[in-house]
Amino acid sequence: MSTLIINRVVPAIRMMTSLQKVMTARFDNRKELLSVDNEEDLLELNFIKKSAGILVVDETTDPDEIIYDLKVKLSAWFDSRIIHPDYILLKGVGLVVIAENAASLDILFGAKEENVISVSGRVQDKIAIITGGAQGFGGGIAEFFYAQGANVVIADLNEEVGEKLVATLNAHKQTNQAYFVKVNVVSPESVEEMVAATVKHFGGLDVIISNAGILRAGGLDEMSPETFSLMTDVNYKGYFLCAKYASAVMKEQTLFRSDYYADIIQINSKSGLKGSNRNFAYSGGKFGGIGLTQSFAMELMPHRIKVNSICPGNFFEGPLWSDPEKGLFVQYLKAGKVPHAKHIEDVKKFYEAQVPAGRGCRVIDVVRAIFYVMEQEYETGQAIPVTGGQNMLN
Ligand SMILES: NC(=O)c1ccc[n+]([C@@H]2O[C@H](COP(=O)([O-])OP(=O)(O)OC[C@H]3O[C@@H](n4cnc5c(N)ncnc54)[C@H](O)[C@@H]3O)[C@@H](O)[C@H]2O)c1
Repeated sequence: MSTLIINRVVPAIRMMTSLQKVMTARFDNRKELLSVDNEEDLLELNFIKKSAGILVVDETTDPDEIIYDLKVKLSAWFDSRIIHPDYILLKGVGLVVIAENAASLDILFGAKEENVISVSGRVQDKIAIITGGAQGFGGGIAEFFYAQGANVVIADLNEEVGEKLVATLNAHKQTNQAYFVKVNVVSPESVEEMVAATVKHFGGLDVIISNAGILRAGGLDEMSPETFSLMTDVNYKGYFLCAKYASAVMKEQTLFRSDYYADIIQINSKSGLKGSNRNFAYSGGKFGGIGLTQSFAMELMPHRIKVNSICPGNFFEGPLWSDPEKGLFVQYLKAGKVPHAKHIEDVKKFYEAQVPAGRGCRVIDVVRAIFYVMEQEYETGQAIPVTGGQNMLN
């Protein structure tokens, strides 16, 4: 089944079955489901919950035909019932399961009922992808999103660290869930697959945080063309790919509800607002990211998709700066970048002194800015500095 069909049909089903609250959904196309063509056969499969409402859609692989058929059948369904069907069987294609939250989806797929906590947070039951979500800013954003009720897709190259964070979050046993997807944001196929995996698992996509980024500092004499290309691919092209594949699903969703908005948020940097000495490959890619944000915002606001960049100051407590072996504090100490610095602490103090707030940026500072843009209906195309006063807009 092509990702194109998944990315069109499943989000449409999610929105068409959402009367007040926006639902979650899950798509399954295991082999035994593909030959099922009526309600009775479906109920015979042992993973289906028996008492549930089932809607059957005629066999076709044309997404427009499926959506048309669904509109007609759902309209008739809601004429006589006030709740959505639990299962929609797309004959020959697979099964879509619909529920209020991710834990209920598990139950409809036959999982044992457990005591789970329903938190009521600022991003309750939203579906969020966070690229580079295994550690650093991304990992911290994933923790806050999960704590505030979101279904979080931690999308990262680093499977081991990402899976570990997912297990830690899911151990809290909430109705919302975390899920790991391996992605390389420089690959179009990988990013498209990341979006499809999210749609299959949670039913759609409400916000993508394009956060994966790398930094290799160096002046013109040191910077190799290969390193320049790699940084531009991850920091600049990666954002384009995330926006491209995420917006396709978001556009599908906003078609069905006039009160529904989706968000594309890039984690940019203060180096996207002001040049950075001997760090041009990073700074140039981040400046470019703001050009993408402004342009995407113009294109996507008519679809009620907001696009914004958040420009954090230095995250001194994160691994990029504080890693004891590869961190920037160690690198800058060894390179003699800070005059008279003898210890890591001297380097740290030098950088902290440049911030009017006297400290580095923290995850919570970035998360507050993310929630701000998500809660707006009248703000898009912005690059919001979160720098403790180090960078100010003109
Ligand atoms: N650390 C800072 O001081 C700082 C300041 C401002 C902005 N930022 C921005 O915040 C974002 C996160 O930075 P961080 O410091 O938390 O980084 P980090 O190095 O701690 O984490 C980055 C994560 O991205 C993942 N990643 C790297 N390349 C990837 C790829 N091609 N595909 C998928 N995942 C990939 C890594 O595996 C890692 O988990 C970046 O965009 C960075 O530019 C960082």
